[in-house]
Amino acid sequence: MTDLDELAAASLAAVEESTDEKSLEALRVRLLGRKGELTGHLKNLGALPAEQRPAAGQQINLIKNRLQNAIESRRQTLESNALDARLQQERIDVSLPGRRRAGGGLHPVTITMDRITQIFRAAGYDVAEGPEIEDEYYNFEALNIPENHPARAMHDTFYVEPGTVLRTHTSPVQVHVMERDDPPFRMICPGRVYRCDSDLTHTAMFHQVEGLLVDREVSMADMKGAIVSFLRAFFEEAVEVRFRPSYFPFTEPSAEVDMSCVRCGGTAKAKACRICKSTGWLEVMGCGMVHPRVLEMSGVDPVEYSGFAFGLGVDRLAMLRYQVGDLRMFFENDVRFLRQFN
Ligand code: PHE
Repeated sequence: MTDLDELAAASLAAVEESTDEKSLEALRVRLLGRKGELTGHLKNLGALPAEQRPAAGQQINLIKNRLQNAIESRRQTLESNALDARLQQERIDVSLPGRRRAGGGLHPVTITMDRITQIFRAAGYDVAEGPEIEDEYYNFEALNIPENHPARAMHDTFYVEPGTVLRTHTSPVQVHVMERDDPPFRMICPGRVYRCDSDLTHTAMFHQVEGLLVDREVSMADMKGAIVSFLRAFFEEAVEVRFRPSYFPFTEPSAEVDMSCVRCGGTAKAKACRICKSTGWLEVMGCGMVHPRVLEMSGVDPVEYSGFAFGLGVDRLAMLRYQVGDLRMFFENDVRFLRQFN
């Protein structure tokens, strides 16, 4: 009987101390299994004198029940502890801020191109494209720049092979458009152009937007209106615009377009202005009435139709709008610079 009491006490203590379901099960087998310690005592009952058997049997069964209950309740405790631990571990804090992805952004020149395109689209212009590797014919001859014409010297041309060049301006797209379709035309062409030239304000590749409007009775006043409206829309202020007589072989008459300085507003005659070099004016594009010979060569009747064209420097407009001092920064791909336009 004393043995039994000791066994019961030690077993109950072991149950309470077990730390996982596996060792608890092992303990149950060791105590209550077919060859278990308590089961052994039950089997030995037969060796006792008959009058002691009922009391001993009763006590063993009592201990057995107590152990069974203790094991079951310990098992439940261990199970719910394990579940709690797992829930704790797999817990998701929905209030934590999300991981941010470093978002990319458009290049300032692309932003500027898109902006120019949007303004002209709103005014009813179509967007055309042409090849960057271009026939010499489209880059020059069809624009009234024959071989040996002095104007060819103005274009520091990259030759791909004899007769083929990297286009030096977007004007050849005028010709493609006029050859392909019938007038009227109202289009712009944004794109890359190439010149063998590089310094603080020039890069070998840069961007232009060409404009072409051809219809019946188009006058220089229409050109002036289109260009002034565009510049005011682009800069979102009432910039002053002046047209300075100039020369391009493919337009007649031709003009260079200046606008009042975005920095000093054209008032920096006395104080030094870095942007306009204290002239008060910024040169932003070339333009003119399409030369009758250009219309004719592209299959448009110059008696019935007239038109204007312009070519503006996108990189230059981007520099002015974002007040960037050095053109080359646009093409060095320094993220510290580019990130500012996100
Ligand atoms: N193609 C000229 C240039 O690159 C610009 C221009 C375009 C001038 C259209 C007049 C008309 O300098």
